[in-house]
Amino acid sequence: MFQVNPSRNDIQNKFIKHDNAMLNRVFGSSDVTPYWIADMDFPIASPITQAMQQLVSRESFSYEFDSKSVFDAISKWNQQRHGLILNAENFVQAPGVLSAIALLIREYTQEGEGVLIQTPVYHQFRRLIESAGRKTVNNPLKIEQGHYVIDFKHYEQQLQSGAVKMVLLCNPHNPVGRVWSKTELQQLVTIAKKYNTLIISDEVHADIIFDDAQFTSMTSLGYDNSLTIIGSPAKNFGLNSISNGYIYSNNIGLRDQIKATVASMALDNGNAFTTYATIAAYQHGKAWFDEFLAYTQNTRNWIIDFMATELPQVITFTPQGTNQIWFDFSGLNLTPMQLKSLLTEQAKLALAPGNWFGETNEQYYRMNFAAPLAQIKTSFELLKSSIANDQK
Ligand SMILES: Cc1ncc(COP(=O)(O)O)c(C=O)c1O
Repeated sequence: MFQVNPSRNDIQNKFIKHDNAMLNRVFGSSDVTPYWIADMDFPIASPITQAMQQLVSRESFSYEFDSKSVFDAISKWNQQRHGLILNAENFVQAPGVLSAIALLIREYTQEGEGVLIQTPVYHQFRRLIESAGRKTVNNPLKIEQGHYVIDFKHYEQQLQSGAVKMVLLCNPHNPVGRVWSKTELQQLVTIAKKYNTLIISDEVHADIIFDDAQFTSMTSLGYDNSLTIIGSPAKNFGLNSISNGYIYSNNIGLRDQIKATVASMALDNGNAFTTYATIAAYQHGKAWFDEFLAYTQNTRNWIIDFMATELPQVITFTPQGTNQIWFDFSGLNLTPMQLKSLLTEQAKLALAPGNWFGETNEQYYRMNFAAPLAQIKTSFELLKSSIANDQK
């Protein structure tokens, strides 16, 4: 079942999150505890390990593709977990979630056309849009009563202006941790329908949902002009370096168009490790995943309680989903440079800087809390004493 610590620490790795050269480049020091990349620090579910061990023990890697079993396993999981009915025929496999988004941007928009994102948002969205020669159209989220919400008025203005060809939605939202409600998504769709705008919904964090928040997939809303990226085992099962991205649409025309493009580039066949790992995760990983979710929910609750009682001058946005938590440090009244030095040099924290997610977020930082709670507690005690020393 779910384990916090790996049974072996002696195996070499080149994990980006822990790489000293990388930490030096990004944070100016490798003497930091890494909470910046959105992946987990726990050993994966044992049924996945077993499936991969069996594969290695066959000592043969003849061509072997089995997307059908992958799509079936993802569909069944989503039906059981979210009551979501997916048709296994309607998936298109791409090498990853980001490559799927990049392909969709190139397929359904032309150079110079606009793609709307809701900032602050996962920083790779902007990179994918702009590196494809498309324009980013920002629809900044608003904070209302301590929660991020969509600014629908501004959203509609952008669509009405004709500047938006595609909406790139992040649901659940990284970094602010909102799980968009059915009502919010319906409103988003109603407006998109009015201007006939395509919605791409990135749902890679779909299973990491806390308390009584309810995940709603774009595919369940009956909006014909949409494609969803759903079912990647990257975030929920920790398969970041070996998972594919799964594009889904009930619109056969849209599905066939992207399917043909993906196939024309021979990008549609996952490798055997990905295939077997994904099937094992969705068929046999439920017990592990439920424990993982309970563990990270408990960690989230600990952080929120700690911040509320010990560091109330920092605003902590309670995530409804994702293993990311978003902080606003502006209450410390530090310049961006002072804040950076407090966090990295004194508190030894490698957090993802807010300005990665949007231009005006220099007082904000994102933390990935899919890490051992004991380590997180030590980090927060150091943060508290660093702030106390700094504010003397
Ligand atoms: C919203 C979102 N989409 C996509 C990705 C990356 O997915 P992949 O590495 O599977 O391409 C991440 C990773 O953090 C993410 O948060």
